[in-house]
Amino acid sequence: MYLGLDLGTSGVKALLMDADQKVITSATAPLEVSRPQSGWSEQDADSWLFATGAALDEVKRSHGPQLALVKGIGFSGQMHGATLLDAQDQVLRPCILWNDARSHKEAAHLDADPKFRQVSGNIVFPGFTAPKLVWVKNNEPDIFKRVSKVLLPKDYLRLWLTGEHVSEMSDAAGTSWLDVEKRAWSPELLQATNLDESHMPRLVEGSDVSGTLRAELASRWGMGGNVVVAGGAGDNAASAIGLGTIAPGSAFVSLGTSGVLFASNASYLPNPESAVHTFCHAVPNTWHQMGVFLSATDSLNWWSGVADRSPQELTTELGDEVISPTGLTFLPYLAGERTPHNDARVRGAFVGLDHAHDRREMTRAVLEGVAFALRDSLEALKMAGTDLDRVMAVGGGTRSTHWLQIVANALNLPLDLPRDSDFGAAFGAARLGLLAAEGADPAIACTAPPIARSFEPDATLQPAYEASYQRYRALYPALSGAIS
Ligand code: XUL
Repeated sequence: MYLGLDLGTSGVKALLMDADQKVITSATAPLEVSRPQSGWSEQDADSWLFATGAALDEVKRSHGPQLALVKGIGFSGQMHGATLLDAQDQVLRPCILWNDARSHKEAAHLDADPKFRQVSGNIVFPGFTAPKLVWVKNNEPDIFKRVSKVLLPKDYLRLWLTGEHVSEMSDAAGTSWLDVEKRAWSPELLQATNLDESHMPRLVEGSDVSGTLRAELASRWGMGGNVVVAGGAGDNAASAIGLGTIAPGSAFVSLGTSGVLFASNASYLPNPESAVHTFCHAVPNTWHQMGVFLSATDSLNWWSGVADRSPQELTTELGDEVISPTGLTFLPYLAGERTPHNDARVRGAFVGLDHAHDRREMTRAVLEGVAFALRDSLEALKMAGTDLDRVMAVGGGTRSTHWLQIVANALNLPLDLPRDSDFGAAFGAARLGLLAAEGADPAIACTAPPIARSFEPDATLQPAYEASYQRYRALYPALSGAIS
């Protein structure tokens, strides 16, 4: 048996998989995000441990004998968060999350130093880890002085599970401190933020062993003595492992809290100018590119709160037929934007409201706006040299087939929906647990899932979608700078 632990933003999922890669069970425990100020997003790091414990206790209750057979554990984690520890490994402040934009000035300052793009291969986005540490230094100097280790969220979970300070390449690539081509911490970039390698965890590959489960926890869950803990991966690379997205040119979209278009690459292909992320993959000698925007299902959830209907009610009332976009455009910049605009301060909008528009029109505009944000990422990946001919789809948003058809239309690409929604990050994490425990070949172990349904772009709607996308593109400059 192998266990995948997915530390997401809204919950921790534990997934148990057998040696034939059949999912035996999964359990999820919720997490809260706190937003103490506009643009801030924080989480109590110890709540991750509590939620992981609760999810695993549930797996033990329902599948105790199978849980006892676990040989390998892998992780998937929300990326970029800054978990700050003192010399006794005590957490110094709430973790500043990936979608926290408070450090936009610090990010712009670091990004203006050419070595950051040169060495890390990426724009220094406000959501990345390095600018957060500069913000802490500038605003909470007493805390900064006490920082002994900076850990990414899942690496703090690992510390609890194994007692080791370790990270791996895919998540480390999102800190702005990694030399992404060499797959090593960059002393130069660390120094530019008043840190050095002693503040960083040791690095392994995602499919390597990072440690073993502490005896006390192994006995809590009835496991044996030598449970291997894999490096694991950032959530997008973990989803890619779950979907078998390793071969160059293979790709997926993720409609989760954030939206992602991810493509695997056999070599390091940075292109920061297009605001594409170029990160290490979770297996050796492999990289990936992705476009990331911050509010995908988060946009629908926001609209669901305003409309006082569940996301499912909202998408269901659209019916089955996907029609031409109307003149109403939604821009999903509720928390600022990464790809393609790198603009932490822009905010979203409905543009083109008419007396005739009702709730359904507005829901459709939200789904289309998110799909156009994915299209923006597709264009950014093209600029970075990656052409795609079809993509898989994962994430909570894929529960709406209406939305999937809209995405296929907006991308003008066929979209494949895996048969089981479990082929995501937690499944990829469990696979990494298997790879580390068995030393298996990733190319053989990480197959693509069976496809339940494919969504072909509707050729008759292409002109309308294209016109609507161009309208969407043209609106960003009007919004940028509209909020100060
Ligand atoms: C990737 C990113 C998000 C988070 C969300 O760069 O910020 O996908 O990892 O979980």
